Amino acid sequence: LRIAVLASGRGSNLQAILDAIAKGDLAAEVVGVFSDRPRALALERARAAGVPALALEPRNFADRAAFDEHLFHRIDETRPDLIVCAGYMRLLGAAVVNQRRGRIINIHPSLLPAFKGLRTHQQALDNGASEHGASVHFVTAELDGGPVITHAAVPVMADDDADRLAERVLALEHPLLLATLRLFAAGRVTLDDSHIRLDGIAL
Ligand code: GRF
Repeated sequence: LRIAVLASGRGSNLQAILDAIAKGDLAAEVVGVFSDRPRALALERARAAGVPALALEPRNFADRAAFDEHLFHRIDETRPDLIVCAGYMRLLGAAVVNQRRGRIINIHPSLLPAFKGLRTHQQALDNGASEHGASVHFVTAELDGGPVITHAAVPVMADDDADRLAERVLALEHPLLLATLRLFAAGRVTLDDSHIRLDGIAL
């Protein structure tokens, strides 16, 4: 499975993918890492693993569509089977997303459809949620609204703040993302119309 990763920041999910591949725990190859932020730690992690890494700055492009077109042109050059948004903080426009239906996934730190968008851990606390977690979903033009493939839950503790809760969720994101990628690597997940065909998951 040829994977391109989009990341804006720290890149711990990217690192989990790279480590799993290095250990032989995921039959895949990261063919490129792409960012909208030149200083993203994710780029350094990619280069340290010998993976080509590229940052494009949105301010150098006329508008979102121009940025997206250029970015996805560069992504397409790496011939990925799957494009993984792992902490990519920029909206993807409908044009590039619709052309790649079923080939872009995102990991989002909430139990979707609850708590879309930003500051999901604070949203969960503010809403008095007893459970929180992370979801991997297909990307569509609707923000955090595409079909959910897998998710994993953690309990919310009485004394949690957003940081503590984020840490507990992140610890689960990595195995969740890897388990999901193994399903793709085995050819076990596809998107038909709006239905996901999926056969089994083990974390
Ligand atoms: C993760 O919580 C991911 O779900 C969210 O942004 C965070 C990225 O973390 N979308 P990292 O950059 O992979 O460390």
